[in-house]
Amino acid sequence: MEKVVFDLYSPEYQENPYPTLSYFREQDERIHEFTIKRGTNEVKSWLVTRYNDVVTLMKDERITKDILNVMSKNEIQQQNYIEEYEFFINNMLFNDPPDHGRLRSLVHKVFFPRMIEGLRTRIEEISTNLLDQLETKTNVDLMEDYAVPLPIIVISEMMGIPEKDRNQFRIWSNASTSVANGDEEIEKLNSYIKDFIHYLETIIEERKQSPQDDIISGLVMAQEDGQKLSKKELLSMLFLLIVAGHETTVNLIGNGMLALLQHPEQLDKLRKHPELVGRAVEELLRFTNPVEFATSRYALEDFTLYGKEIKKGDMIFLSLAAANRDPKHFENPEKLDITREENKHIAFGFGMHYCLGAPLARLESQIAFQALIQRYPNIKLNVNEKELKWRHSEIFRGLTELPVKLR
Ligand code: HEM
Repeated sequence: MEKVVFDLYSPEYQENPYPTLSYFREQDERIHEFTIKRGTNEVKSWLVTRYNDVVTLMKDERITKDILNVMSKNEIQQQNYIEEYEFFINNMLFNDPPDHGRLRSLVHKVFFPRMIEGLRTRIEEISTNLLDQLETKTNVDLMEDYAVPLPIIVISEMMGIPEKDRNQFRIWSNASTSVANGDEEIEKLNSYIKDFIHYLETIIEERKQSPQDDIISGLVMAQEDGQKLSKKELLSMLFLLIVAGHETTVNLIGNGMLALLQHPEQLDKLRKHPELVGRAVEELLRFTNPVEFATSRYALEDFTLYGKEIKKGDMIFLSLAAANRDPKHFENPEKLDITREENKHIAFGFGMHYCLGAPLARLESQIAFQALIQRYPNIKLNVNEKELKWRHSEIFRGLTELPVKLR
């Protein structure tokens, strides 16, 4: 068996978490205790890795996404290093019913597959423009030049974020989803978040004066209505959509392209059969898990789970990545197979909090892979695999750079 490292923050784990996750999944015990860092604190947590258990627990009413159901604001503040933590949690992802449904319903129509399909031509245009800019280059960082800008341009246009401010959003969004270590980094993160909030407040005021045809204007109008969402919820909803739009599909394109480059026979198959792109994207979601480690929940009460005593407020991590490689659920799970037919992966989660942006992420990445591979069929990795650098995040798995040769 490969070496097992279970330090979420270690470079070994970031480089390849799968041996560790498989190790836990194959143990007799179905739930594992570990600690997670929160600033200078270590918080006791639980990890669940088997597919059936993860899916079952995502619907279990004894666990919640809503931290305010299990902790006072004071306790949250003590456990966390984020001063404006409400900015992170006053949204659908961290709420239970009835607030969850109320918040989700305010934007769900925009993300319906039919509405998203209407963006196809524009997304193809963005992808073509980005690829045009690579014509004169041979060595390219596929993250910086393609995987990062594509989804950012799309979500920024949908939201109504002016082009001149997009670089700043990228910095804020990235900082909010990275692990801050030490006082200096924590202080910097808190100051970024304050600037982020301040910017959003300004843009909200602007949209109140002159509404546009964009998501921010739509939500500002809903907030003015008074019943549908509060000012804090508005800010937090914008935060969630911006971060989800900036940090997820980027990694599906980056991790997915890396996986294809590491499996040239699969890349070749996709090049020869572009009609396989839909299935290929599902397989890359399962295999590379852009939301890699786990999604978290809190115990609403004391209870016994798989023989362990869980206390109210304990954090329970449900590992999507481990579940997506569970051999009891997937045939040959360690094999990348873009023609896989039976593929009920849970890379977009499961149940009530199932990813709202899934149709958008699917469309963006299908276009991104197809356009890139058709335009540059000889694309190759331009770095030793050992030199690849991964982002330092607890939630997302993504590369900081993906050097490739296009010809
Ligand atoms: C490959 C890309 C993506 C992946 C892998 C992904 C994954 C996920 C997962 C796993 C969840 C559930 C989290 C949980 O249960 O704790 C989720 C929720 C969510 N995602 Fe995504 N996501 C992606 C792209 C996007 C995009 C592009 C958007 C929108 C801009 C988006 C918006 C959301 C929202 C709003 C939720 C919360 C839904 C709710 O609580 O009802 N996601 N996503």
